[in-house]
Order: sequence, then structure tokens, then C-alpha cells
Amino acid sequence: MKVHVANHPLIAHKLTVLRDKTTNSPTFRGLVEELVMLLAYEATRDVKTVPKTVETPVAPFNGEVLAKPRPVVVPILRAGLGMLEGMVRLIPSAEVGFLGMVRNEETLQATTYANRLPEDLNGRQIYILDPMLATGGTLIMAIDYLIERGAQEITAIVLLSAPEGIKALEEACASKNIPITLVTGALDEKLNEKGYIVPGLGDAGDRLYGVV
Ligand code: URA
Repeated sequence: MKVHVANHPLIAHKLTVLRDKTTNSPTFRGLVEELVMLLAYEATRDVKTVPKTVETPVAPFNGEVLAKPRPVVVPILRAGLGMLEGMVRLIPSAEVGFLGMVRNEETLQATTYANRLPEDLNGRQIYILDPMLATGGTLIMAIDYLIERGAQEITAIVLLSAPEGIKALEEACASKNIPITLVTGALDEKLNEKGYIVPGLGDAGDRLYGVV
């Protein structure tokens, strides 16, 4: 698995405001959208293209355009939904699928409660969106499921990661025979006893949409 930790002053600035507990939900949502666009720029470095020649007003130009079938963006509900807008702004023609996963706050185990994906994922490049890589349970489950459905290449875009989650993901991905990449805005210190990332930003879903 390839791991890319963003190292950019604009990302660091936006993440700092995001972490601040006094940042309200509307500002938080706007920042998440902006951060995803910056992270997606790196995450889509290997997106497939095909050659295309166009005529400029001056001369022919041998360029490239996104290949078909288009990439599939899969936000993990609920918090991943907050990242969708930024991603589809960057790739408006991407297909979008949804995976609903929730973790049991006592066992920290993830379970799937909703699933809406394109019928055929064979040969598709997939971008999973989930803001927090904590224990890694949700992401590992999502990756297993998408590989089972035929995904050919998976990139996970997260805002913050814990070292424990990256280690678990690396171990789980060692046996997979497709390219898997993690792009994270920052690598934090650790997980606390409740499975929250420290220093982190708290519960991403609650901060995006309010406490339910
Ligand atoms: N999920 C969150 O929303 N926050 C964490 O810190 C860990 C998991």
C-alpha cells in the first residue's frame, strides 16, 4: 500500500481551523470541501486518461481526457458524505456509489447498513471518502467489499489518520493484489481509549451535521 501524507501549508492551515472546537458546522463543512479538493488533486495523480486530439483556434493539439468507464467515488456514510461535494467538483463526471457503515462505539467493529454502488465495478478506479482513519476497521471492510465487487484500483482519501489505523490498513492490504493508496491530510499521534484520534477533531459526523 502506498501512503501519501499531505505536506502543504494550505492544507495545514485549513486542518488547524477544522480541528478547533470553536469552528461551527457551516464553516467546518466548507473547509472539508476545500480540503478534499486539495487532497483529491494528489489522489487523482494516476487517474486513467486516453489521448484526444482537439483543434485550438491556432493548431491541432494532442491532449488527453479522462478514460471511460469513469472513476467511481464512494463516500462512507455518514461523515464521508461531507467530502463528496469537493470530490465531484474536481471530477464532475465521476460515478458516485454509497456505502453506509457504522462502528459500534464499544467494540469499535464496523458493520454495513446501506450499500448503493454501480452494478459492475470490474476494472474501475475507486476513490473512497472517509474523513477519519482511526482503527481502520471501516476502511478495511469497505476495501474488502469493493475488491469482492471487482474494483481494480482503490485510493482512500482521508483528512486525518492515526498510526494504529495505518498499520492495520497496511497489514490488511499486504495480501490484496490490486494497487491501494492512502492519501491523508495529516498523521496524528494516537487513538485514545474510546477510539478517537488524538489530537484529531472529535466526531467528524457530529461536527459536520450536528449531534444526533
Ligand atoms: N471517527 C471520528 O469521527 N473521529 C475520530 O476521532 C475517530 C473516528
